[in-house]
Amino acid sequence: MTEAWTPASWRSKPAKHIPADYPDLAELSRVETQLRKMPPLVFAGEARRLKSLLGDVAAGKAFLLQGGDCAESFKEFAADNIRDMFRLILQMAVVLTFAGGKPIVKVGRMAGQFGKPRSSPVETIGGVELPSYRGDNINGMEFTPEARIPDPQRLIQAYSQSAATLNLLRAFAGGGYADLYNIHRWTLGFVADSPQGARYRELGDKISESLRFMDALGINAQTHPTIHQVEFFTSHEGLLLGYEEAMTRVDSTSGEWYDTSAHLLWIGERTRQLDHAHIEFFRGIRNPIGMKVGPTLEGDELNRLIDVLNPTEEAGRLTLYGRFGSDKIAGRLPDLLKATKGRNVVWAIDPMHGNTLTATNGYKTRPFDRILSEVKAFVDICIAEGTHPGGVHLEMTGQNVTECLGGARALSEGDLADRYHTHCDPRLNGEQALELAFLVAERLKDDRVDLNQRVAQAI
Ligand code: PEP
Ligand code: CO
Repeated sequence: MTEAWTPASWRSKPAKHIPADYPDLAELSRVETQLRKMPPLVFAGEARRLKSLLGDVAAGKAFLLQGGDCAESFKEFAADNIRDMFRLILQMAVVLTFAGGKPIVKVGRMAGQFGKPRSSPVETIGGVELPSYRGDNINGMEFTPEARIPDPQRLIQAYSQSAATLNLLRAFAGGGYADLYNIHRWTLGFVADSPQGARYRELGDKISESLRFMDALGINAQTHPTIHQVEFFTSHEGLLLGYEEAMTRVDSTSGEWYDTSAHLLWIGERTRQLDHAHIEFFRGIRNPIGMKVGPTLEGDELNRLIDVLNPTEEAGRLTLYGRFGSDKIAGRLPDLLKATKGRNVVWAIDPMHGNTLTATNGYKTRPFDRILSEVKAFVDICIAEGTHPGGVHLEMTGQNVTECLGGARALSEGDLADRYHTHCDPRLNGEQALELAFLVAERLKDDRVDLNQRVAQAI
């Protein structure tokens, strides 16, 4: 890792989960050249701002809420879907802020979350074997030989969809939609008449009352723009390094390299090998970055990875997302927290990817109670070890889907077929996500005093 870094230096390392079977590699190269000329989607100052907010998270002064689709798709690209995800994140943030009394750093898995690492390179249905679907920026989901051929033009479409999505998100975040006075308008139609909807209304009433009180004191959206707008950031797994390389530019103010495809990029569980391409690429970009930490990673290796990814212990630079599974977290996380004591990292939890199972009717699903149980265990273990539980990373949607089991409406295996729309992993629907936010909020509130004492003792 001592050799000079360039945006292309990853190319001399072994790489996993990057397709090499494009029928026309010259076309892929032409597309990458074209992407290099496209305007950046985010700019370095914004990425630095997120890094500084994540520094607050590491110090226990803020909490990270990151969520969105497992995989965005070309088919489900619609203004309403973007709006629904955005308002779900706002609602969850309100719930978490109110309980935890801390600012919530809001990051969407949006505007670029397309490429997927797959556990198997092939998929077999009814005796027919085809290459697996790898995300809309690589190939098509339809089970036909033509759709499964990687097509470089999909990268251009993914870029333009990301640009349009981000444009709308920026408009929502800054243009008045996220105004706290609109708190009651964010409720998704199908959530309104659920127990979570009622709880949220109650909370919204309290906040509206406080806003009226503050207004009487002269504090309102005109005097305090933070009431009128939110800071919202984007993120995706930085899987397709050819695309990420093309979007990596020198920031003119600092002279440093930033990957301008998103504010935050993360390294997946399957591509975090120390001497491989993804770690090489990520070490050189200056964005805040994340890395998934699964049940097989040992403390020594994690520390070596941190040495490479954040050698200067820069605050907010590196977020670790534990994703162990509700049955494994207690056996794995305590040692990893001990091993990383004193290192400047954010510890967050992805309670989705260790809790996936196949229902008896063949659907890939996740039980809500296991997701919740992993989050609770995460908070408890962090507190016991004197680490701040920094945030949650969720796969969810603002749509009324039936993909995860359980929740207040007790979704059963038989319900899964009703509205199972995901392009990859099962997502929490709006109601389940809001329920999770309430339950996490309670946990954070209960543990607030205790946590502050324990962390103070541990420092
Ligand atoms: C994901 O976040 O969609 C993912 C593939 O996760 P992991 O790398 O943790 O398996
Ligand atoms: Co996923």
